[in-house]
Amino acid sequence: MTTSTTSTILQMKNIVKAFGANTVLRGVDFELQRGEVHALLGSNGAGKSTLMKILEGVYTPDGGEIEINGTPVRIRSPQEAKALGVGMVFQEFSLVPTLTVAQNVFLTREPRTGAGLLNDAECERRTQALFAEMGVQIDPKQVVARMSTGYWQLTEIAKALSQDARILILDEPTASLTKTETEGLFELIRRLKAKGISIIYISHRMEEIFEIADRITVMRDGMRVATERIANLTMEQVIEQIVGQKVEQVLAWKDRHVNRTTAPLLEVKDLVAADRVRNISFTLYPGEILGLAGLMGSGRTELVRALFGINKITNGEVRIRGRSVTIRKPDDAIAAGICLIPEDRRVQGLVLDHSVKDNLLLPLLKRFQKFGLIDDAGGDKLVQSYVSTLLRRQSAKGGHRQMASSRARDTPHGRADSRCRYRGESRDRQYHPPTCR
Ligand SMILES: Nc1ncnc2c1ncn2[C@@H]1O[C@H](COP(=O)(O)OP(=O)(O)O)[C@@H](O)[C@H]1O
Ligand SMILES: [Mg+2]
Repeated sequence: MTTSTTSTILQMKNIVKAFGANTVLRGVDFELQRGEVHALLGSNGAGKSTLMKILEGVYTPDGGEIEINGTPVRIRSPQEAKALGVGMVFQEFSLVPTLTVAQNVFLTREPRTGAGLLNDAECERRTQALFAEMGVQIDPKQVVARMSTGYWQLTEIAKALSQDARILILDEPTASLTKTETEGLFELIRRLKAKGISIIYISHRMEEIFEIADRITVMRDGMRVATERIANLTMEQVIEQIVGQKVEQVLAWKDRHVNRTTAPLLEVKDLVAADRVRNISFTLYPGEILGLAGLMGSGRTELVRALFGINKITNGEVRIRGRSVTIRKPDDAIAAGICLIPEDRRVQGLVLDHSVKDNLLLPLLKRFQKFGLIDDAGGDKLVQSYVSTLLRRQSAKGGHRQMASSRARDTPHGRADSRCRYRGESRDRQYHPPTCR
């Protein structure tokens, strides 16, 4: 099938998209060939997700054209995208954890019996066939919540394939996968490719891109800056395209001037804690940024969870400004001035159904309680001061990126607006609410 491997399945031409005054796509071209793995690269805010959401029918472009298989199309909804063979595998999965794998794959399209009842057996049989085709082993009867997230992703892919997806969009697919799971995913991608399925692959991991992609397209500030076969490029060249600077400049060592002659801020001595933390010692000075490096499973997350009072500390010592502290629960850590921004912020860090204000105040509720009631005005004032501080920093940086709450400038407390963005989008057109990166 030499012809099919060289033909164009998707062409996006001169795509323009603005959110209010913020133009985030400025005439982007993107082309995808049949059976190709095309990596879409760019730093945070470059416009990758917005471009993909246009292809997924989540956003309508302000300008430009899309052709699928040479035919001009308009993609007005995710349903239309699916009907055109565009399948998406979400970074935050859209599966229902309490249902089985098979039920999820055929959710809303369940096969029925002659009497009109749901036909679970048929559903499982078809799911099994899909997995066999994909070359993966998953029990269709397994309840999704009981499987590791690596399998969730495979279930998502099976779901897209069951809807005849010819173009698969994978946005940071390996973010929560172990090394073995990643290998498995790559194996699957190669199989899908061989079947003529085209894949758009978004990732920040360079080694993966060099391993799996045929071509790359790099975006910067809402524009396409390069499209090239990966075989023609070095890793340095790709990084230079992404950041728009020479690698030496990007990686140039910058002296941080940390004063280590003063008293340390945090001292951890021989810390032993639940799961994986064995005799960890380090010292952190005021104004210092300490990197914790290690492979997946080496205990980095467990260490910070222990310091925040989630995982149980069984031995060792934690000192703050020279004073020994006992951390048994997150309250103790907060009282000691330790804050944790967790790994999976959407699940562990935020209550997505609540407003920005409610989320900000959640850890501080005690402070705003009077006679069992919440001091709303006090809370508003504090949130407002955080919002203005953040906005000042944002504009001082001169960045074009907007915080979720940037439009809150017009409203007294930033509440209505921030709420509307989170609530509105997650309900009406989006599967996962935007973060305020
Ligand atoms: N719904 C939205 N409303 C306003 N601005 C948005 C919205 N979605 C994305 N943006 C902005 O568009 C720009 C590109 O974002 P995005 O497409 O998510 O970039 P990437 O995926 O490359 O990180 C960013 O400046 C972001 O703040
Ligand atoms: Mg993105």
